[in-house]
Amino acid sequence: MAVVADQSVTTGLSFNLTDEQKALRGLAREFAEKEIRPKAAEYDEHQTHPADVVAKAHEIGLMNPHVPEEFGGLGLSVLEGVLVGEELSWGCAGIAVSIVANSLGSAPVMIAGTEEQKRQWLPPLLEEPILCSFGLTEPNAGSDVSGIQTTAIRKGDEYVINGSKMFITNAGHASWLIVFASTDKSKGHRGLSAFIVPTDAPGVTVEKHLDKMGQRATDTSAIAFQDVTVPASNRLGEEGEGFKIAMMTLDGTRPGTAAGAVGVAQAAYDHSVVYAKERVQFGQPIAVNQGVNFMVADMATEIEAARLLCWQAAWLVDQGKRATLQSSFAKRFAADMVMKVTTDAVQVFGGYGYIKEYPVEKLMRDAKLFQIYEGTSQIQRLVIAREIFLPRDD
Ligand code: CAA
Repeated sequence: MAVVADQSVTTGLSFNLTDEQKALRGLAREFAEKEIRPKAAEYDEHQTHPADVVAKAHEIGLMNPHVPEEFGGLGLSVLEGVLVGEELSWGCAGIAVSIVANSLGSAPVMIAGTEEQKRQWLPPLLEEPILCSFGLTEPNAGSDVSGIQTTAIRKGDEYVINGSKMFITNAGHASWLIVFASTDKSKGHRGLSAFIVPTDAPGVTVEKHLDKMGQRATDTSAIAFQDVTVPASNRLGEEGEGFKIAMMTLDGTRPGTAAGAVGVAQAAYDHSVVYAKERVQFGQPIAVNQGVNFMVADMATEIEAARLLCWQAAWLVDQGKRATLQSSFAKRFAADMVMKVTTDAVQVFGGYGYIKEYPVEKLMRDAKLFQIYEGTSQIQRLVIAREIFLPRDD
């Protein structure tokens, strides 16, 4: 628990962003303002994949920020990804996730891929706006990753994959995805392995585009694998390393997801401040009422706290330190915070807040998903409690 404080002493602590980081954040904010916000309501209503916005984000370098320069990327830090993610989500969480989900899909390749695998799969992501997905969750294995039932059976130089995945972000538009599958059921989580699977391989079927409550601009689909054959060279790491690859991936991506929650909360706060100053009741703006301005004060405080947790977790990942605890701190706090902040924003708007014509109704729907994906708030608490009471020594 004292890890961060100790490191702060040795490396110094600064909340100052560099000029480059400020410019990057400014670029993402401008993109969110000009390209995302004007289309947010339409994509939310029709639940369509925002291919045009994704292509523009790709064009100006806001996609795949972490791919190293040697593979054609910008090699940005996790902290810089957090800055971008917050701003894009401030524009619209659904569109933002369509853009940033490549960071989740490609992370296992960066964590566990060989040089050859990185050369094959990463550069194309930079050349054109193609998407990749992270295929962990199954209909009967959500929080319990060790319960994965998809199998990958080795036959000579190939693996044959059978099973299905559920709630897979961008699956309906992805060119490839990472599939976590059991190569040895008798070994439980130690029998899981990770594979890169092209979505045009025979036997891959995108089954169902799911009709969600919020973040509707992101495609979330079920996908099935029937006798799908991939070369053994598509396996990431050794057989049995899949579980750890998944956990290491999530340790690195949860700060970015938490930052998305901060962006949505910031949007709700911004709308609330403007509305509270404009809306007149009893002859004065409602902002003068403590019942309203204390709510807004709490919003501001909790948004800032969540942002700092995101920065801390991202900074730890960037230092190459294990960030399991701090990533779960950030994800747990930011996800629960955005639910509260957006609910309070609807309250500030009163009856108008409950109407689709006003922006905070969508934000409250979008907020809910942060408490569910990339590990529910309950799973984050479980991870935190284990780190406190049963810390791993790796
Ligand atoms: N890094 C490295 N190794 C780790 C690790 C970590 N963060 N956490 C655990 N491990 C290791 C353990 O040391 C242990 O190693 P050994 O085999 O050597 O003993 C092994 O992994 C098993 O760990 P646990 O005993 O803790 O495993 P568990 O079965 O109890 O489950 C869990 C742990 C934290 C609950 C895990 O199942 C989990 O994270 N569940 C949530 C899954 C999740 O977040 N899903 C979201 C999917 S992605 C998504 O939502 C995005 C989208 O597209 C919508």
